[in-house]
Order: sequence, then C-alpha cells, then structure tokens
Amino acid sequence: MKTKDIPVNKGIAGFIGASFVAVYNKEGQFVVLENVCTHRGCQVEWNDLEKSWDCPCHGSRFTADGAVFQGPARKPLKKLNFTVVDGEIRLS
Ligand code: FES
Repeated sequence: MKTKDIPVNKGIAGFIGASFVAVYNKEGQFVVLENVCTHRGCQVEWNDLEKSWDCPCHGSRFTADGAVFQGPARKPLKKLNFTVVDGEIRLS
C-alpha cells in the first residue's frame, strides 16, 4: 500500500501482503490497524464524515486510531508495526 494513495485525515481499508488492514493518515503520520473487528471479526469500514472505523455487523465503532467508542466491541483494533520504504507501507 502506497502512502500517496491515502489522503491526509482519511482512512483506507485494504491489503498489505496477505493482511487486511485499516490505515489512517493522521497529518502524514500513519496508523496501521488490523482490519478485524474485536467483537466477532468482521471488517470495519472508514466513515469519512465521523472520521471513524465502523463495523457493519453489529455496530461497533472505533476512533481513527482504533480505540472503541461504541460497543459491543470492548477492545481496540490491534495496532500493527510497520515501516515505510520508498513510499510504501510494509508490515514489520
Ligand atoms: Fe463488529 Fe460485531 S463483529 S460489531
């Protein structure tokens, strides 16, 4: 996933290698989350109006950097370690 494809203050769901991720561009600082809802494992979607990650399955909602602000999920989205090499985000 290329950093240039993720606009500032927006989130993008997609793959890095075989991992489905949710990536947020926080003013040029990237937050890379595992895209697996901590309630029952559905994939979250970016809500650009609210700047949140929303789960379509049972309504859990997470902040852009993965904290829960609406259940039923109780745990945050998992943060993944990554590096940026030549403008490309790679999991480490
Ligand atoms: Fe996401 Fe249930 S799997 S709210």
